[in-house]
Amino acid sequence: MKAIQAVQRIHDLAPGVEAFHEAVIAGLSAVPKTLSCKFLYDATGSRLFDRICTLPAYYPTRTEWGILRAHARDIAAAAGPAAGLIEFGSGAGHKIRLLLAALRDPALYIPIDISRTHLLASAQTLSAAFPQLPIVPVCADYTQSFVLPDMRNYCPGRLVGFFPGSTIGNFTPEEMNEFLRRTAQLLGEGALFIVGVDLPKAKAVLEAAYDDPQGVTAAFNLNLLRRINRELKADFDLATFRHEARWDAAAGRIEMHLTSQIEQMVSIAPHRIHFRRGETIHTENSHKYDLETFMNHAEATGYKSLASWTDTQRLFALHMLEVKR
Ligand SMILES: C[S@@+](CC[C@H](N)C(=O)[O-])C[C@H]1O[C@@H](n2cnc3c(N)ncnc32)[C@H](O)[C@@H]1O
Repeated sequence: MKAIQAVQRIHDLAPGVEAFHEAVIAGLSAVPKTLSCKFLYDATGSRLFDRICTLPAYYPTRTEWGILRAHARDIAAAAGPAAGLIEFGSGAGHKIRLLLAALRDPALYIPIDISRTHLLASAQTLSAAFPQLPIVPVCADYTQSFVLPDMRNYCPGRLVGFFPGSTIGNFTPEEMNEFLRRTAQLLGEGALFIVGVDLPKAKAVLEAAYDDPQGVTAAFNLNLLRRINRELKADFDLATFRHEARWDAAAGRIEMHLTSQIEQMVSIAPHRIHFRRGETIHTENSHKYDLETFMNHAEATGYKSLASWTDTQRLFALHMLEVKR
């Protein structure tokens, strides 16, 4: 086995500004207006999301942390020695520390995230805490097909995918199935996939989590317009848009919207986009799945369920899946 050291050169497969422009014009020309939540994460958006994770109303982070801490040894036992870890949407890279500390001689860590600056910073911080661990950051959009760095020389053990944060709920059920199928192929037969999934719960708890009294989630959502202004030379007036979190009971999801408070035209060169008063841009979905529903999706897309754990209040679930052999 080859030895490699610390943080490797970033694999940069992230979409460029042209793809962002194209997606923004297409999304704002559609009815209803929609933008993918992946665009919420520029450097500022990632920092704001990290603040959201510390808010009292935002129960998912601390709850998932507690479940992971309680079951990290179960995961380590299933993974075995010299495992290779691949994290989707790694963000600040806090939760992976619990797994890295529990695993026996982890061989490699590949954090994948679309937010380049944040990805690099968190890889450096993690490397200081785990200096023996080779880290290969991959800046990519995981909704698109991409090739992972070749790991065979570095990773003799089992591959373990990790997708915490209930980020999987950002997909519609159809998109989630497609993502699960693709990751099963990417990880390969016999790999583990550890997925954090938010459970259905009272509307008031959900709405508070996605519209906190401190206004951090509102700033996170509105930052998307600031990003479009900066990167695409647009002229959104942020004071004329308001953040909204809406529970859609039929779809089992919280939606985030940016609502225009006035009728207006916004210029995104060379286009001009019309907004009616009260018209919204739908910027994020966050679907909630009970244990059985999520396991059915996993079973149908190439996985076997090995275990699922929840906290005592049954707010959040952590699933341990195995890619079917
Ligand atoms: C909800 S946050 C979760 C962060 C962290 N995993 C946690 O559990 O706190 C979603 C993360 O996924 C990343 N992300 C969102 N969409 C992505 C995409 N299409 N491709 C790659 N990364 C994405 C974001 O940059 C962000 O770091």
